[in-house]
Amino acid sequence: MKLDLTIFLSAVIGAQAVFATPIRSRTPYSVKETHNVPRKWKNLGRAAGDHMLHLQIGLKQDKFDELDRHLYEAPVSDPNHSRYGNHLSFEDVTELVKPAEETLDLVHEWLLTNGVRELAYSPAKDWINIYIDVESAEKLLDTEYSVFQHEDGSALVRTSHWSLPAHLHEHIDTVQPTTSFMRSAPQKSDYIQFDQPYTPPGYKPPTNETIAKVCRLFTVTIECFQTLYGTIDYQQKVPGINKIAFNNYLGQRPIRPDVFSFLQKYRPEAAPNAYAFKSIEIDGGPAAQNTSLTFEQAAGDDISKEANLDAQTILGMTYPQPVYSYSTGGSPPFLPDINTPTNTNEPYLTWVNYVMGQKDVPQVISSSYGDDEQTVPKSYADRVCKQYAQLGARGISLLVSSGDGGLGGEDSSGCLTNDGKNTTTFIPSFPPSCPYVTAVGATQEFEPEVAAFRAPGLGPDNKTHGFYASGSGFSNYFDRPSYQDAVVPAYVSALGGLYEGLYNKNGRSYPDLAAQGLYFAFWWNGTESSISGTSASCPLMSSIISLVNDELISCGKPPLGFLNPWLYSKGYKGFTDILGGNTSSCGTAGFPVTKGWDPITGFGTPSCSNSQKTRVIYNSDPLFIETE
Ligand SMILES: *[C@@H]1O[C@H](CO)[C@@H](O)[C@H](O)[C@H]1NC(C)=O
Ligand SMILES: *[C@@H]1O[C@H](CO)[C@@H](O)[C@H](O)[C@H]1NC(C)=O
Ligand SMILES: *[C@@H]1O[C@H](CO)[C@@H](O)[C@H](O)[C@H]1NC(C)=O
Ligand SMILES: *[C@@H]1O[C@H](CO)[C@@H](O)[C@H](O)[C@H]1NC(C)=O
Ligand SMILES: *[C@@H]1O[C@H](CO)[C@@H](O)[C@H](O)[C@H]1NC(C)=O
Ligand SMILES: *[C@@H]1O[C@H](CO)[C@@H](O)[C@H](O)[C@H]1NC(C)=O
Ligand SMILES: *[C@@H]1O[C@H](CO)[C@@H](O)[C@H](O)[C@H]1NC(C)=O
Repeated sequence: MKLDLTIFLSAVIGAQAVFATPIRSRTPYSVKETHNVPRKWKNLGRAAGDHMLHLQIGLKQDKFDELDRHLYEAPVSDPNHSRYGNHLSFEDVTELVKPAEETLDLVHEWLLTNGVRELAYSPAKDWINIYIDVESAEKLLDTEYSVFQHEDGSALVRTSHWSLPAHLHEHIDTVQPTTSFMRSAPQKSDYIQFDQPYTPPGYKPPTNETIAKVCRLFTVTIECFQTLYGTIDYQQKVPGINKIAFNNYLGQRPIRPDVFSFLQKYRPEAAPNAYAFKSIEIDGGPAAQNTSLTFEQAAGDDISKEANLDAQTILGMTYPQPVYSYSTGGSPPFLPDINTPTNTNEPYLTWVNYVMGQKDVPQVISSSYGDDEQTVPKSYADRVCKQYAQLGARGISLLVSSGDGGLGGEDSSGCLTNDGKNTTTFIPSFPPSCPYVTAVGATQEFEPEVAAFRAPGLGPDNKTHGFYASGSGFSNYFDRPSYQDAVVPAYVSALGGLYEGLYNKNGRSYPDLAAQGLYFAFWWNGTESSISGTSASCPLMSSIISLVNDELISCGKPPLGFLNPWLYSKGYKGFTDILGGNTSSCGTAGFPVTKGWDPITGFGTPSCSNSQKTRVIYNSDPLFIETE
């Protein structure tokens, strides 16, 4: 198997390699990391020695602190300034995250002495990628790989611990795949086929006639979002300079004929774009599909519902902007031959390292995938999160959905620790728990919007549907970032000890924002239907941020980039506070939705003026404000 060299700058280290620092004598191995095998996984026995792994070795970044500082500095709005918008160039970021020479030398030496001669680097050389069989990886990391099977049938080749020579501990942050069981499932909650519009008993339609005309609870359309959030009359000025993208993993791919049918009905002028948006395939990811799903594909499972949802929402909201669809290969297979699972590599890091290597990246990226934070080893979550910081430093806004399980699941049986003790706890989700992304929760209804929640039971199609509550929580891995200091401690203290011990008061709390997330109009397998989830909220919010960027760029201002420092200091004024909704989860009533920021809907949903006379004043005011 060969590494896809379009992804990484390749390099072959030969015997002639010159080391800047003297070679250390070998040191004995000691355990670098152990991580509990998450609940629901069982060990089926040793992995085959010839199973291939794509090992990603994260080297210590030399000047990350400096990069972090840039992210929090006030924006520089003079376009002639070398740090316009406070965004760093590709070269600047590369310089800040590259490892020290000594780190590179020591790691090269270790790989060479273990017979690894072919390796590839990320652009900053802060990651080394090697393809290696299990037998060799076991020697390299003094470990044993096993096949682990999830109770849903899927399998991964992983280990519970790995080691490094003692002198390398301070130079290598993480190596994966080893202990990470993260699978980042799409955060979409259900799919409902229907024959006729549906209104649940007791639902009161909006009294505002403009909204009542376009917004129905089931199903919600592009026109409703545009009206509700005030973007309906906005004419984009710099589409092409301004761009947006979304991520697909796990074999998900947008199905162009479905996207076309959706747009033809709900945003007709955008329909041709269903066949024109750009599909970028990374590391063997599948291309957007030109033809309808075959019978077998549709029967398979959820294939491409998430990707269709992202494509339909973003194309519908941002036409005529160019849209990029990133598909990254590498996914836990479903029901593989147990001894030879196919590509079980980690795609999330592959994607971010690919994007970091590109000079021209869309300014907004939407990603609707996540998993329980406790399935991801801390060292790995930390490094993936730092890669996201690098995107932010370059002026790219990365938005992720907050999850569909509220505080971690419906009842207390799912809300247990992973440490073998099964202690009751709230279960935060990664990547929304990463402080360098903007996490988006979900709302439902219109007047007012409330936090999205649906108890399990019969849906509009008379089929049973599962529990759904907008994802909410506090990280156990990441400390509260300084931008949250003004709101989170006050929220926690107002709880007066509620849920004490079930969450980390000092952790990064999410979400930051929210948008509609129940019963989106949707097309799949040639049929209209509806779909729900923070998966829907994320591309919707991403689209609106992208429209704000259009306005900013057209006024000669930099795009918003990493949103959170701006959002928590002044941007929040451009959002409508959400005050209600049910957040019952983990067998509790959930965190209360309150006035001001709360960890269910963040600062709320967008409130853009729908006047063409609007201008964005980036440094001091909310999203769109009237100036004339
Ligand atoms: C930026 O530089 C350009 C070209 O040198 C100049 O025309 C323009 O006036 C400058 N803008 C500002 C805000 O200084
Ligand atoms: C009704 O909603 C529209 C769209 O949000 C808004 O522009 C208008 O002011 C609202 N009308 C009233 C009477 O609140
Ligand atoms: C879809 O069509 C485009 C344009 O004709 C072509 O470039 C692309 O390879 C096709 N994709 C697939 C997956 O067949
Ligand atoms: C997909 O569409 C085909 C053709 O209409 C239909 O026969 C099939 O049952 C659908 N599959 C699913 C899973 O809905
Ligand atoms: C924790 O739960 C798992 C699976 O639900 C069970 O196998 C295990 O015995 C439990 N451990 C303890 C200490 O209760
Ligand atoms: C929230 O939902 C739960 C589960 O359906 C229900 O028992 C509870 O009464 C609801 N709470 C509120 C305030 O609506
Ligand atoms: C669901 O069941 C109710 C009661 O049996 C019936 O009135 C309704 O038409 C059904 N809805 C659908 C979509 O089948």
